Amino acid sequence: MIIAVDGPAGSGKSTIAAAVATRLNASHIDTGAMYRALALKVIRRALAPEDPNAVAGVLPGTEIVVGNGRVTLDGEPVEGLIRAPDVTAVSSVVAQHQAVRIWMVDRQRMVIHRAPGGAVVEGRDIGTVVLPDADLKIYLTASEEQRARRRAAERGASEEEALLEVSSRDARDASREHSPLRAAGDAVVIDTTDLSIDEVVDSVLLAMRERLKA
Ligand code: DC
Repeated sequence: MIIAVDGPAGSGKSTIAAAVATRLNASHIDTGAMYRALALKVIRRALAPEDPNAVAGVLPGTEIVVGNGRVTLDGEPVEGLIRAPDVTAVSSVVAQHQAVRIWMVDRQRMVIHRAPGGAVVEGRDIGTVVLPDADLKIYLTASEEQRARRRAAERGASEEEALLEVSSRDARDASREHSPLRAAGDAVVIDTTDLSIDEVVDSVLLAMRERLKA
């Protein structure tokens, strides 16, 4: 079973995808972590993240591996470094470039198809581009205020700061030319604003059972 989980920042993707993967004994693949790892490399090399040629230039020779909470960049574990505010902002900028997206999608498909016991894959373009034939597509949403509140609690930032981060990143992710953030036509849309984690996980598992029956 391959499940795609897309949605904007703070919609609950990571928490829900990890919980659903645990319940199903499947792999959890966080594709956002791959864009974040590339952003870290771009920052370390002091490259301009908005320059498509500069960013494309680092792709050959780059190795990013993700799975079940682990993220390595060229062999170095970077889980602890990729959630920093500067990496977060740059991840959404490097994700705009077509060469980057092609490179990422190739690698993502390879990991997903090798995952034993299926995969729960989270991102922005999983149901639309990476896995148009996923067994189940989930699109999580939540009000901007609630998403900012969650981000602030996770990161220890103020809600105002988090609101600014979430709204500027969403605007960039949803308006970019290549693979913008949007729900696939056949996605099950779940508004998580007023739902607990368990309620969202149960809704996903219910949608999966219905899909299996159909
Ligand atoms: O899911 P996240 O917040 O860790 O993702 C970080 C950034 O990476 C996000 O702002 C946009 C980009 N991204 C993307 O373009 N496509 C994906 N499938 C996943 C993430």
